[in-house]
Formats: sequence, C-alpha cells, structure tokens
Amino acid sequence: MRTTGVNGLSPELRGRLKELFADGRSAWERFRAEIGRERFHLFQPADYETVLAALLPLRSPGARFLEWGSATGVIAIMADLLGFEARGIEIDARLVAVARDLAMKHRSGVRFAAGSYLPEGYRWESGSGDDRIGTIESGRPAYGELGIPLEAFDLVYAFPWSGEEPILKDVMRRRGKKGARLLLHSKAEGVETVAF
Ligand SMILES: C[S@@+](CC[C@H](N)C(=O)[O-])C[C@H]1O[C@@H](n2cnc3c(N)ncnc32)[C@H](O)[C@@H]1O
Repeated sequence: MRTTGVNGLSPELRGRLKELFADGRSAWERFRAEIGRERFHLFQPADYETVLAALLPLRSPGARFLEWGSATGVIAIMADLLGFEARGIEIDARLVAVARDLAMKHRSGVRFAAGSYLPEGYRWESGSGDDRIGTIESGRPAYGELGIPLEAFDLVYAFPWSGEEPILKDVMRRRGKKGARLLLHSKAEGVETVAF
C-alpha cells in the first residue's frame, strides 16, 4: 500500500524538510527585520507543515509545480525535494535572491524567476465594475524568464491575501492547463484544492 502521509517519507527526507522549514522561518525573520524599517510588505509565510500534508497525496512522476508569489521559496523547494518539477515566481527581486540561496543550501534544483505570475495580456474582470487586483502587484510577466508557460503546469500553489482568490481562480480557468489543480492556502482554512 502506498503511504502518502509524512510518516511515509524517509527519515532522511523528513530531516531535510525540517531543516528547510527552520531556515525558511529564519529567512523570513531576517527579511522582516530589514524590510520592516522601509514599508509594509505583502510577504507572510505559509504554514509549511499544512502545505506539506496537502502536497504529499498529489505527488506523481514528472508533475510540474509552480508557486505563485514564492517569497523565500520554501514551498517550491519543498515541492522539488518531494519529486515535483518545481518553479517559483516572485515579484520582489530581493526575495528571489533569498530563495535562490536557500535552494542552493538545500541542494535543490528548483528555479525561480523575478516578475509577475499574471500572464501576458491577462485582465481581471470582476463583473461588478471594480476591476482592481487588490494586493496583487503589477509587473512584467515572469513566464518568459521561467521558460515554461502557465499552461504547462499541473499544480499551481498560492497563499493569497483575502479577496484575491477569485482572481487566482479566474487566471487558472482562463490561462491554466486543462486538468490542472490550484492549491490555495489560508491560515484559517488550510489548503483548498480546486481542479480546472
Ligand atoms: C503571502 S506571500 C506568499 C509567501 C509564500 N508563497 C508562502 O506560501 O510562504 C505573497 C507573495 O506574493 C508576492 N507577489 C505579490 N504580487 C505578485 C505578482 N503579481 N507576481 C509575483 N509575486 C507577487 C509578494 O511579494 C509576496 O512575497
């Protein structure tokens, strides 16, 4: 029988993930100390263990995973260590540098691109006349640098700010791969998995 829980992981992989989560929390504390002096930042770290539990049953050979708004990169690195072909997109270039360092330290081949996860030409139409995209930042789409279009990813993960969920689902519905899944994390609800 295939075990999909954390207990089904090898002790070595469990140890690597534990270290990654600890380093991710330290990287977040350092970043917050630096940036907090400048301005409010949209980066809040996920509950790593909760996201790990959601990812475990979704593992399948060659599956492509994309983290939208990857910040310090912990989730994308974790996905890589779990066997996904993982990538991350983050609009803040300083965080992309942090994520690349973390990936190198944890011997992960995951790649990160700086820019926006909203694909070229995408426009949010709410239907209410208010088409603002809230806390999602605007910037040059990062898929060119990534070398892989959104429609080639099987799993897309995001930890959105409240109110952004309809926009993210709309992006997947209109521009994502048919059959792909969107994992939306929130501290209150855990991880919602939506199939397209
Ligand atoms: C709540 S944090 C998510 C952190 C991380 N994904 C996690 O789960 O721990 C949201 C991140 O999205 C980034 N972001 C905001 N708008 C973006 C956009 N259009 N494209 C790429 N990243 C964006 C922010 O800079 C921030 O780092």
